[in-house]
Amino acid sequence: MAKKTVSFLVSGRGSNFTAVMKNINQGIISAKPGIVISDKPDAGALSIAPELGIDSVCINPENFSGREEHEREVYRVLKKYHTDLVVAAGYMRILTPFLVRKFRNRIMNIHPALLPSFPGVHAQKKAFDYGVKITGCTVHFIDEGTDTGPIVMQAAVEILNQDTPSGLAAKILSEEHRILPEAVRLFCEDRIRIAGRKVIINQDQ
Ligand code: GRF
Repeated sequence: MAKKTVSFLVSGRGSNFTAVMKNINQGIISAKPGIVISDKPDAGALSIAPELGIDSVCINPENFSGREEHEREVYRVLKKYHTDLVVAAGYMRILTPFLVRKFRNRIMNIHPALLPSFPGVHAQKKAFDYGVKITGCTVHFIDEGTDTGPIVMQAAVEILNQDTPSGLAAKILSEEHRILPEAVRLFCEDRIRIAGRKVIINQDQ
């Protein structure tokens, strides 16, 4: 099987991006690095990209007349790198239907809550404030909605009496670093099939 090319969309520190890249570099995920694209010039992910062995670029939305024009440039670069899978690893923009359609079921996002609970920003704090006893994280494909696409994988995290919002976010983050590389690995091994809203993972390999 030909190796798939994995590219990334990021906005911030890039710890999820790093977790996936380390798995690629260690051969745990059989894939080729594509490019990491940030919408923020000062994203930490851009500065760690060289040591992780992946090209990087900032495509700043401020330089475009609209969201779709910006995404057309993002798409052009993703295509230039022959991207098979896009990993949105802390990308703080809602995608337009343009990019979603170009990469239907080929853009994975990591969300720090158990969807469909607590979509959108500050999901860890929302779960903490609501008082749920279990929260976690979700890897899903991006569709036209906000955090609504087919779910690939989830991990649960218990909220204990002594937890603080920041401590909870850290516990969730360590689960993100586990399930996002795992979901990327399954995709790259062609073990993911989508039937409507359901993602079916072929376990017998
Ligand atoms: C993570 O909590 C992720 O779930 C959310 O944004 C954060 C990104 O963190 N979508 P990092 O840039 O991967 O460190």
